[in-house]
Amino acid sequence: MARNTSGYNGLFIPGPTNVPDKVRQALNVPMQDMRASDFGELTFPLFAGVKKVLRTQTAEVFLFPASGTGGWEATVANLFSPGDRVLMSSFGQFSMLWVDMCERFGLEVEHCAVEWGLGVPHDEYRRILEADKAHTIKGVFACHNETATGVTSDIAAIRAILDDLGHPALLCVDGVSSLGSLEFRMDDWGVDVIVGGSQKGFMLPAGLTIMGVSQKAMERRVTATMPRTFFSFDDMLKHNATGHFPYTPPTQLFHGLQASLKMMFEEGLDNIVARHNRLATAVRAGVHAWGLELCAKDPATYSDTVSAIVVPEHMDSGAVLKAAYERYNLSLGAGLSKVAGKVFRIGHLGNLNEIMVLQALAGSEMAMRDSGINIELGSGVAAAQACFIQSADEQQISRAA
Ligand SMILES: Cc1ncc(COP(=O)(O)O)c(C=O)c1O
Repeated sequence: MARNTSGYNGLFIPGPTNVPDKVRQALNVPMQDMRASDFGELTFPLFAGVKKVLRTQTAEVFLFPASGTGGWEATVANLFSPGDRVLMSSFGQFSMLWVDMCERFGLEVEHCAVEWGLGVPHDEYRRILEADKAHTIKGVFACHNETATGVTSDIAAIRAILDDLGHPALLCVDGVSSLGSLEFRMDDWGVDVIVGGSQKGFMLPAGLTIMGVSQKAMERRVTATMPRTFFSFDDMLKHNATGHFPYTPPTQLFHGLQASLKMMFEEGLDNIVARHNRLATAVRAGVHAWGLELCAKDPATYSDTVSAIVVPEHMDSGAVLKAAYERYNLSLGAGLSKVAGKVFRIGHLGNLNEIMVLQALAGSEMAMRDSGINIELGSGVAAAQACFIQSADEQQISRAA
């Protein structure tokens, strides 16, 4: 059977996310002179806008032409030295890959391997940091939102541990699938490095690493000895001072970022966070109505950007993805690595509304039934609809008040 490709592909992978029409149009601009004296008129407002999204007054913002992984590398290359001890945890594909990168760079990784479905092990972090009286640990790393399992970790709680112990390690955070969607407060949470990518909450194509680096971390780069070239903060800063870049920048993505920031500020950062929570709550109600479980074990850590749904034992989540894509033109997220075949994921982040979420749930139901998973058609959709009706009522009442 030929794949059904009529209409739009329902893109419910957790990134790249849907690019809004306004942003797509903004991307469609002629090439321009990246050494022109007025290039800063395009770029300076981007740095200022990203700062607002990161909720920082003081951090440096970097825009590297790379995907999020580039931001991981920029962190290690600029701020650490070979052999430096760092504290990390893995509980999913992405937190695991950052550990792997740090090991490949020759850092001495104190690695807390956590069961997938849990998040940053705060007690373990406290124990290890408390024992480190000589402050040999130079960095504490955390994945804010583990996209593979749909788990959000409490970053402010890590800052509280560091402050409580008076530990000076840099707090380095992966915000690739949280920034622009979930609550994130760089200054309030004392985050030293935040790494994001353009293709999730920022609603752009992949291609920009979007980073914030605290002044404390910027000082560290002076003594850190890891070799750095492409990702050098110094080279970038030197050129950014006049609004320029050390190499050819992706100007179209800058125009796209200008448009996406405008959309984000028009909606309001708090409203974006609330919308993601509303949509995610409905997805979770749907999963519950199906009688299925999330991979995330603790409700306090449920992600508002992605849900990883565990299929019943002896069932294959790959079959659900295949049916969804081939029969209904619906893209769902695959189970990765340790949870391959065991979970499928619904990405509910970025430019998304209630009706789109119902589409994802309806398609998932059909694909699950096609794959032999015994759920009641319409049950998840109905549960989500009930959530949406209730939240629309509440919004109406609060607008009227
Ligand atoms: C939490 C997280 N970190 C890092 C990455 C890697 O980002 P990229 O694929 O943009 O390099 C991803 C990608 O999905 C992610 O979800």
